[in-house]
Amino acid sequence: VTDGTSRVFPPTLAELEAEAEVAASPAAWDYLAHGSGDESTMRENVVAWTRWKLRPQVLRDMGDVRTSTTVLGIDVDAPILIAPTAMHRFVCDDGELATARAAVRANTIYIVSMAATTSLEAVAAEAPDSARWAQMYMLRDRGRTRALAERAGAAGYRAVVASVDGAAVPRRSRLAGGALVPPDTFRFPNLASPDDPHNTNLMAMVSDFDPTVTFDDLALFEEWSGLPVVVKGVMRGDDAARCVDAGAAAIAISNHGGRTLDGVAATADVLPEIADAVAGRAEVYVDGGIRNGVDVLRAVALGAQAVLIGRPVLWGLAVDGADGAVAVLHHLAEELGRAMALCGRDRVDLLTRDLLLGAT
Ligand code: GLV
Repeated sequence: VTDGTSRVFPPTLAELEAEAEVAASPAAWDYLAHGSGDESTMRENVVAWTRWKLRPQVLRDMGDVRTSTTVLGIDVDAPILIAPTAMHRFVCDDGELATARAAVRANTIYIVSMAATTSLEAVAAEAPDSARWAQMYMLRDRGRTRALAERAGAAGYRAVVASVDGAAVPRRSRLAGGALVPPDTFRFPNLASPDDPHNTNLMAMVSDFDPTVTFDDLALFEEWSGLPVVVKGVMRGDDAARCVDAGAAAIAISNHGGRTLDGVAATADVLPEIADAVAGRAEVYVDGGIRNGVDVLRAVALGAQAVLIGRPVLWGLAVDGADGAVAVLHHLAEELGRAMALCGRDRVDLLTRDLLLGAT
């Protein structure tokens, strides 16, 4: 619904998703909507949150509910960050520049993807005063990852998000031949090889990911960038503890939105184990299937410092550019605030496991 100038936001993200499917090109939609295999993990990510049932408290003074918190020492309006996702130009003409503006307006952190269609430097220039993190994989040519980590440090990024779920190229079932060739006008200024800067075959570039990377290599990201390292793609408590031992400042629990290995557990189901294993030695974030403010409350109550939002931000961008992405972030934060009030907890750091049946 629109009044011609400002848009009235649909009441649920499911409605926005339906609008985004209409707004996006079929190629873009196939790319962003799909998962790997038969997409059981992609579906399970959403359902698993709903299995955690709330035990609200009543008769607490809820006159001043605040969703604000900090993430790696950075103040944010809500524990809701923008996940790294590829190719925002696929859904919105301004691409990652629109996302950067949205992050400023929602006062949150934008994690810029290595597979962005905009350079780290251009995103930084668009939103110089906001906090940004740079996501990257270790490439077989480690000098290329080193150069990107150095660029992130030089461009004022505040953390490197090192993805560790790239040991094999995923099979994307809904894409012809399992691969994707985006429009040839796209450029990948953070990922493409300097020898082949106009390469638009994202799935081929993904085969440059280094499958030999281990815990011992995590320190390189910090050494190269001078920034704290968030390790993204962890799904087990023992791995999370080893990442923290290796110097990680934070763990991002993720199964890549069900886009990498179908059959992997839902992130909601492994979050308690990982939060327990990390035991406060590092921050824990989680992504995958978070579709409303109650899911955000559940994630924080189970031990996450913040959640990362992937597809819904892209839906917002597809429907209404930066305004749409802001609307998604505000909508989730508003729902979180309402859920907090109705659970009797007026601060994010008071969201604890006893709010969830069977979680303690
Ligand atoms: C990229 O990381 C993707 O999931 O397509």
